[in-house]
Amino acid sequence: METRRIREIFLDFFIGRDHRHVPSSSLVPNDPTLLLTNAGMNQFKPYFVGEQTPPFPRAVTVQKCLRTPDIDEVGKTARHLTFFEMLGNFSFGDYYKSNACPWAWELVTEGWGIDAERLWVTIFQTDDEAFEIWRDGVGVREDRIVRRGRKDNFWDMTVAGPCGPCSEIYVDLGEAYGPASDAGPEGNEDRYLEIWNLVFMQNECNAQIEPVAELPKKNIDTGAGLERLALVLQGKPSVFETDTLGGMIERAQSLTGKIYGSDPHVDRNLRILADHGRSLTFLIGDGVLPSNQERGYVLRRIMRRAVRAARVLGYDKPILTELVDACNELMGDFYGEIRDRKAFILDVAAREEDRFSATLRQGLALLENEVERVRAAGAGELPGDVAFRLHDTFGFPVDLTAEIASEASLEVERSTFDRLMAEQRERARAARKTGEARPAAELFSSLVAERGETEFEGYERLATTATIVALSDGTASVPAASEGDEVDVILDRTVFYAEGGGQVGDRGWIKAPSGEGAVIDTRRLVPNLTGHRVKLRAGELRVGDEVELRVDERWRVGAAQAHTATHILHWVLRDRLGEHATQAGSLVEPGRLRFDFNHFEALSGGHVEEIGGEIQERVLTDDPVRAYETSFDFARSIGAMAIFGEKYGDFVRVVEVGEYSKELCGGTHVPHTATIGAVVLTGEGSVGANLRRIEALVGADGLSYLQRRAAALEEAAALLKTNPDDVIAKLERTLQAQKEMEGKLGQIERQQAEADARDLAAAAVDVDGARLVAARRDIGVDRLRTLAQRLKGQLGSAVIVLGTAGGGKANLVGAVSKDLVDRGVSARDLIAAGAEILGGGGGGKPDLAISGGPNAARLDDAISAVADAARRHLAP
Ligand code: SER
Repeated sequence: METRRIREIFLDFFIGRDHRHVPSSSLVPNDPTLLLTNAGMNQFKPYFVGEQTPPFPRAVTVQKCLRTPDIDEVGKTARHLTFFEMLGNFSFGDYYKSNACPWAWELVTEGWGIDAERLWVTIFQTDDEAFEIWRDGVGVREDRIVRRGRKDNFWDMTVAGPCGPCSEIYVDLGEAYGPASDAGPEGNEDRYLEIWNLVFMQNECNAQIEPVAELPKKNIDTGAGLERLALVLQGKPSVFETDTLGGMIERAQSLTGKIYGSDPHVDRNLRILADHGRSLTFLIGDGVLPSNQERGYVLRRIMRRAVRAARVLGYDKPILTELVDACNELMGDFYGEIRDRKAFILDVAAREEDRFSATLRQGLALLENEVERVRAAGAGELPGDVAFRLHDTFGFPVDLTAEIASEASLEVERSTFDRLMAEQRERARAARKTGEARPAAELFSSLVAERGETEFEGYERLATTATIVALSDGTASVPAASEGDEVDVILDRTVFYAEGGGQVGDRGWIKAPSGEGAVIDTRRLVPNLTGHRVKLRAGELRVGDEVELRVDERWRVGAAQAHTATHILHWVLRDRLGEHATQAGSLVEPGRLRFDFNHFEALSGGHVEEIGGEIQERVLTDDPVRAYETSFDFARSIGAMAIFGEKYGDFVRVVEVGEYSKELCGGTHVPHTATIGAVVLTGEGSVGANLRRIEALVGADGLSYLQRRAAALEEAAALLKTNPDDVIAKLERTLQAQKEMEGKLGQIERQQAEADARDLAAAAVDVDGARLVAARRDIGVDRLRTLAQRLKGQLGSAVIVLGTAGGGKANLVGAVSKDLVDRGVSARDLIAAGAEILGGGGGGKPDLAISGGPNAARLDDAISAVADAARRHLAP
């Protein structure tokens, strides 16, 4: 069962039980207490703890997750991963244990078809209720229900938050994984594999991860590891041999030329490449950039660990971009974001590898020397200053150093390392005061802290004056930039809309006293800090310059048209298809939009036409579009649509179209719908399980699309010698006539062929009791073969040699009757002589063979040669 099918069965099962399918949230959680998304429930935390009212009582997700506490284990074992997919169903104060357990069992045994005899369940030691549900409600054998303690069967987020007792389902993998145990998973964690965790979310944990309170409601949060399910359902010994991760391994194998399963050391590094390749692709796809802090550090460590694994396998060429590419091929169907952002991901991966590769070899040489030295001295610790130098000069994340050291049973002496790091930070702080360059990421965060957010005036106007606060070349701050440079310009205020909510960033111009440039993109560098990507056309830009800003009006209007059109489309979809048809992602560009939404089946052509018609009608009605700021509570009370998973503050911006569409939105819009002009739907298709995509051209682009279509129709009409209104009828008649003609022609050809076959048969010569036909007919190789077979049917004991030429090549067909084949005459051998003359080759069987070659001018010679060969064979 392919991974995609496992996901599908899961989603269908719960959608069929009234669960809302919610897309995976980003790996960067909307939760300041959490570094990376580590479970399906993360995005729902506000509902569990009662901070927000859930918009629906049940949800189902396939969630991308990243866990790094065990990163050192990845590669060593058959199951450890950093990136994985978690299947989860959720109840927000709706159903509880008595539904969750039987459903999970039904899906496992019937949906996925795992034999109940192989299953075990665990429960929290005091959870008698769960025990009874499993035993009496589901019918699980009593000796297959194991009670376990806080460590195993009480789930928490590892940070403060909702938590609760849990119940897990295990699969017995069988003898090959070790001895059976009466205590099941309690006795042997290798043989019994956990596949699903059902958390009965009813408590709240404090920062010490102690359950301290009851939640307002009892909830369900389940998580099933997709890779482990694939292991079981595909009958593989490790997750690295299942379809998706196996594909990653395959790519790593074909690049490095190393074979998986041959050597534990090789396997380990191939596994690292497979797992880390997925992690880094998805992390960058969700906007994380490698750095020395927080998520950036996690990513950098993963990337550098992967680069090292490749080098250890003797692969010296860039590896990360290859892994990104493989991950895209394997997972881009389901996770459109990595496909959409592939160019960006590749770029980040290539740069990071480039940066690290330059120093990796030297760093490893240094490290190996030091390890030797320490071991020779009989010590157990790698000095902290070595780790610091590796970090500072060679870009080795300290955890990577520690891991390599541990391979030689050494530990890194941390206190010196930490002291040197602290001193370095201090030096950097001092340098900053005197205006030296500093890394871009650090620059951006501290700018927001020191100077506040970029003030946005772009809703009201398209031009303003502002002051340059900082310039960055992408890696570090720079005091100035000059003609030809491409830099990020950070200003105290702006009229440029930064890419967000699906809408692309503005383009336009910037003019300083002694230089000017084009703004080629605008995006957020960190939340609330706008970066204007500027290509300098002339002169210089300097920090402190007072500049004039102007947004390209055509660009902005184009984007606004597409954005308002997106809101109308969203509303019409929900109106026509139902409440579930909510936005799952969008791209809004001048002249074009792409809208992904939740829906379970393809829209028919008629449906698409209707939806397009309704949108156009709403455009022409020329409803006003209003945007205003209000409290989150008020916005909710009037039913404004929120994009799920977005974090909203107390104050939000609402965009209303006419009296019908209300959405929370920070984008730019047209003032009246008629300004949109035209919305032309150009495509509808699937982009994943229960996920559809509509594409449309908007405004002038929509109109010119229609014009192009109309012109093509005119041309078709002219060719058909009719007018556009009658094209279809005329074409139908023409096609009908053509079909009849083809029928007749076929009949004539068949008759001719029969007559021809008769003539050829009559002209066959006798060679020692067998009949020989040798002839040329320029009718193409397919018909020639038919002719040869027909002759063979008519002639009894016979050899047939036919040739055809045309289009700069010639073919021979040879056929031999069965009795002659039995006597050792082979069509294949006979025509070999002719093939040589034609300058080509051929093949086939003793009773029928075909050859061909480019020397069409010598076809007649070739036929004679074959005929001569036949004569020699028949009458030796
Ligand atoms: N939150 C639980 C887990 O991560 C179940 O989804 O295992």
